[in-house]
Amino acid sequence: MALGVEDFLPISGTDYVEFYVSNALQAAHYYKTAFGFQSLARRGLETGDREISSYALQQGKVRLIFSSPLVPGTEIGTHIDEHGDGVKVIALTVEDATRSFEETVKRGAKPFLSPQTLEDKGGRVVQSGIYTYGETVHIFTERKAYRGVFLPGFKRWDSDYNPSSLGLKYIDHMVGNVGWGEMNTWTQFYERVMGFTQLISFDDKDISTEYTALMSKVMRNGNDRIKFPINEPARGKRKSQIEEYVDFYRGSGVQHIAIATDNIVETVEELKSRGVEFLKIPDTYYEDLLSRVGNIEEDVSVLRSLGILVDRDEDGYLLQLFTQPVEPRPTLFFELIQRKGAKSFGKGNFKALFEAIEREQILRGTLE
Ligand code: FE2
Repeated sequence: MALGVEDFLPISGTDYVEFYVSNALQAAHYYKTAFGFQSLARRGLETGDREISSYALQQGKVRLIFSSPLVPGTEIGTHIDEHGDGVKVIALTVEDATRSFEETVKRGAKPFLSPQTLEDKGGRVVQSGIYTYGETVHIFTERKAYRGVFLPGFKRWDSDYNPSSLGLKYIDHMVGNVGWGEMNTWTQFYERVMGFTQLISFDDKDISTEYTALMSKVMRNGNDRIKFPINEPARGKRKSQIEEYVDFYRGSGVQHIAIATDNIVETVEELKSRGVEFLKIPDTYYEDLLSRVGNIEEDVSVLRSLGILVDRDEDGYLLQLFTQPVEPRPTLFFELIQRKGAKSFGKGNFKALFEAIEREQILRGTLE
């Protein structure tokens, strides 16, 4: 954002991410057990909702909601039939949800939800929403007049089952995969409609392996709290992983959610012991690691045993790794990231990462 230009869409953070899934009860159990999320709030038959059952979880500043339909013919059911389990809503905390809606719709956003006020004894929340890529939406959430547990309509979820937290802190970035030739459409959407600016871009020369390629641009909001890289497939010898995603998701959608931790080694050890599966990184990646990234505080043999990747930019370095897809279709996965100064996204790891994904694609028979 240029100096002196008012941010017409001030966003203070990611409010929550809502997943439409076929079995929200079991999904919530998985994210509690495997990822260390804590029970936060419930909505469903016991709160008088006869159409939707939702489980809200929290860890650090990360809030996830898992929602399933209770009856046939719902928007959620249709979404699951088309896309499988996936992210429907990236909710953003704003100062003024009505103004956020008006300013973005005025700039060309397709409306999803007109501003509505929700109230209960905890106070008042105003929400509005617009579409972004595919069927994914942004819900603007204004909660300055709310002291309740999560959102009106939800009640506190007190569970007897409370696996320990894993120290996950906040959402670092969320990546969208879009179809052939659509990357600029959506980066321009974030620029024009939401006032974001472009941080960096990679073209297919940066991010290509023998077989596959992609192009990527990173968009960020005015205060840098929201970062949305957008990927599109590029031509390679075989089907790119972005194309595989778009085929199985049947359109554009959220590819991965990167969550920050202050101690990636401990977090990943614990995630693995709780059954989270990660991409396997070849041992060769670690052979020349230090010559690529310089000195790091971590023990390379520990990083190697856990499959943690390292990349450096002019500001410092970062550690990261990626889970396997977390649903039957090869679509959404998670990233764990620990930043030690670096502000970038692991460009130096893309090639090693994609080669690892290609090995998985071969196993799936989708590297055509
Ligand atoms: Fe990422």
